[in-house]
Amino acid sequence: MNAGAPLPRVGDPVESIDTPALVVDLDAMERNLAAMAAFARSHGVRLRPHAKMHKSATIARMQRAAGAVGVCVQKTSEAEALAAAGIDDIYLSNEVIDVAKLARVAALAKRIRLAIAVDSSEGIERLARAVAAAGSTIDVFVEVDVGHGRCGAPAAAAGQLAQHVVSHAPPDGGLRFAGVQAYHGSAQHLRGDAERAAASQHAASLARAAQASIGAAGIACPLVTGAGTGTFAFDVASGVWGELQAGSYLFMDRDYADNDVAASAPRFEHALFVKSRVISRGAAHAVIDAGHKSHAIDSGPPRLWQRAGTWTSGGDEHGIVRPPPGGDSGDLPALGETVWLVPGHCDPTVNLHDRYVCVRGGLAAGVVEALWPIEARGCVA
Ligand SMILES: Cc1ncc(COP(=O)(O)O)c(C=O)c1O
Repeated sequence: MNAGAPLPRVGDPVESIDTPALVVDLDAMERNLAAMAAFARSHGVRLRPHAKMHKSATIARMQRAAGAVGVCVQKTSEAEALAAAGIDDIYLSNEVIDVAKLARVAALAKRIRLAIAVDSSEGIERLARAVAAAGSTIDVFVEVDVGHGRCGAPAAAAGQLAQHVVSHAPPDGGLRFAGVQAYHGSAQHLRGDAERAAASQHAASLARAAQASIGAAGIACPLVTGAGTGTFAFDVASGVWGELQAGSYLFMDRDYADNDVAASAPRFEHALFVKSRVISRGAAHAVIDAGHKSHAIDSGPPRLWQRAGTWTSGGDEHGIVRPPPGGDSGDLPALGETVWLVPGHCDPTVNLHDRYVCVRGGLAAGVVEALWPIEARGCVA
């Protein structure tokens, strides 16, 4: 849906929502939100959900109201967009190295409680200079590579980096050492419980090594933060992480639903959908109005919701629905019929839309309860 399309009105039946549209099932989303908040509470860990997933100040506020200490973002512009919409406790869980961008980070740190990750001495120096120039203070996590092979210093270097951060501590500098960032991204989507548990244990051993390195430098490590929807239950069991950054649990995309669910983790429901409509019918396929402009397929195709059949790409504006294996054209939706998609990957799907159409009472008989702007949509820098 975009600025030119007719906007749904509060109270409209779901069936009248123009397609394609990004729809949130509020009942399911609220159950997911409450389940994760209860999990964190009952395990005595802090929850700082990743807002890179939903990019919405409204949802961030709901998460705070349910007990989250704040939110994470991954980009400077995401932090700025959410701060402009009133979110005042944000962790930029990523490295920023560009000097002009660091000046924006430092300026934002004057307005809200802000934290950031670092993994190099050069990064710490640049951040320290930006913060000193702005006269602000910022919490700093030393990121350690706990298995992904993305950002993060080796665990053994954590003490030296922490020392470097502490050398710019207030009152002379503006960097407050806050702990260790330990996030294992590629572990999240390992399908089997046992594989994810093993990856989490490996990450935990590296995070412990980082804590030891920091301790050996004579510095207290206040917190280890990290964890995603695929590993948080294992991460908590290790006793290493004190703060969880999971984000996707709130919407549960198709890719996450393909994971085995750990026995110790809450069950989450699909809460994010793309509503589409059949605009053309062939003898053995139906064409819907939801292609790559409506949902992302970097993590695989969407699943048809409560309908047999498969989606394949028909290009930017089209999806092709085919009968399930062994099925026939009688299984296909009719011309004009609604088809609901569960996106393969929620974060980049959300990034394609200006707003959420929020529905109460289910996708079949529900009504529109609200439209929420996606403030950090398009904030890629
Ligand atoms: C640093 C960091 N923390 C947490 C998350 C949240 O993970 P998920 O949405 O898979 O729960 C991500 C997601 O990519 C991330 O990059």
